[in-house]
Amino acid sequence: MTILVTGGAGFIGSNFVLDWLAASHETVVNLDKLTYAGNLHNLAAVAGDPRHVFVHGDFGDTALVNSLLATHQPRAVLNFAAESHVDRSIHGPGDFIHTNIVGTFNLLECVRAYWVALAAPEQAGFRFLHVSTDEVYGSLGKSDPAFTETHKYEPNSPYSASKAASDHLVRAYHHTYGLPVLTTNCSNNYGPYHFPEKLIPLMIVNAQAGKPLPVYGDGQQIRDWLYVKDHCSAIRRVLEAGAVGEVYNVGGWNEKPNLDIVHTVCALLDELKPRPDGKPYREQITYVTDRPGHDRRYAIDARKIEQQLGWRPAETFDSGIRKTVQWYLDNPDWVANVQSGGYREWLAKQYGEPKNPI
Ligand code: NAD
Ligand code: DAU
Repeated sequence: MTILVTGGAGFIGSNFVLDWLAASHETVVNLDKLTYAGNLHNLAAVAGDPRHVFVHGDFGDTALVNSLLATHQPRAVLNFAAESHVDRSIHGPGDFIHTNIVGTFNLLECVRAYWVALAAPEQAGFRFLHVSTDEVYGSLGKSDPAFTETHKYEPNSPYSASKAASDHLVRAYHHTYGLPVLTTNCSNNYGPYHFPEKLIPLMIVNAQAGKPLPVYGDGQQIRDWLYVKDHCSAIRRVLEAGAVGEVYNVGGWNEKPNLDIVHTVCALLDELKPRPDGKPYREQITYVTDRPGHDRRYAIDARKIEQQLGWRPAETFDSGIRKTVQWYLDNPDWVANVQSGGYREWLAKQYGEPKNPI
């Protein structure tokens, strides 16, 4: 048996592939374009494993996807591939429309043609699992109830609007063509292999480099945080037992304001790798201009996946964030490797840092 994963060299996708191969005998065909966010170093541990078939390519390339489906005959396709960073979507929405909407559409067309031609037993067992985000639901007020699966879609950034469009396409392919789809809408992940443009890894990396820790606005925006391995176990569970056509919200029951997150990272670094001058890392916190259209609060009601599929996160925030900070301290080569020229250009654009620091 084989599964096909798109975007399996990115943050969540690579964690998923590593965990899948550790727990299952099934082959993974991993189709990834290796954008700035895709990194084969994430998959070094399975480089020689014949159950991991890496394919460098675009999930919107229909000829390529058709041939992969015909050759490998997967029993499921899991779609992680996307442009994923909200700030980049504000600077340049075009890539998000192209990848997240048109790419997903092209993939769905290939999968539909493949699925229609399967024999009845394979057709019945096939699944298309679409990995999405809580951001499609928009922003909550302080005392609003958390997002359930029936919350209306109100995406506010080009990123979340593009993910919302892809969710709608997936839904339509089930409703119209009967494609057996599953959709997961998850909150903020953190953990190993997280690209240091996102809040938690950026803070860990900047703190150690003696750089400012840029907090947008007043730092009181609230996110729900889930350790990435828990997201991967949720996806495995939904693939295994989710009801066709259903949506499952995935979250960590861990709502926290951004400033608390930054203080927690600073305190862990004070303990695990104190500053040479003995001062606390929190002194590096700097308040910067807020993200345009910044969503104030996300919160996930994850009762459906718990009650119907028996999934709950294994990590608390305390255990997960400690593991994460330790992972970055233990893997300076990985960090150095992703801090390429392209990464420095992004920092210059977003935070006004010099592109070529001396
Ligand atoms: P990421 O940016 O780290 O990785 C995305 C991967 O997709 C990269 O490996 C990239 O090379 C690949 N990719 C991009 N365009 C491609 C294309 N055209 N063809 C093939 N591969 C392509 O993203 P992530 O944080 O790992 O997120 C994975 C998925 O999970 C995304 O769909 C995202 O919307 C969703 N999600 C992310 C979070 C989070 O907190 N990071 C939370 C909920 C949902
Ligand atoms: O909610 C799920 C989403 O979480 C995923 O769909 C996205 O792919 C993922 O990138 C993430 O989006 P966010 O915008 O919430 O993540 P980010 O790490 O970029 O920012 C988290 C919060 O921290 C957000 O409120 C903005 C703030 N922030 C971020 C950065 C990079 C800062 O204050 N300073 C920063 O430098």
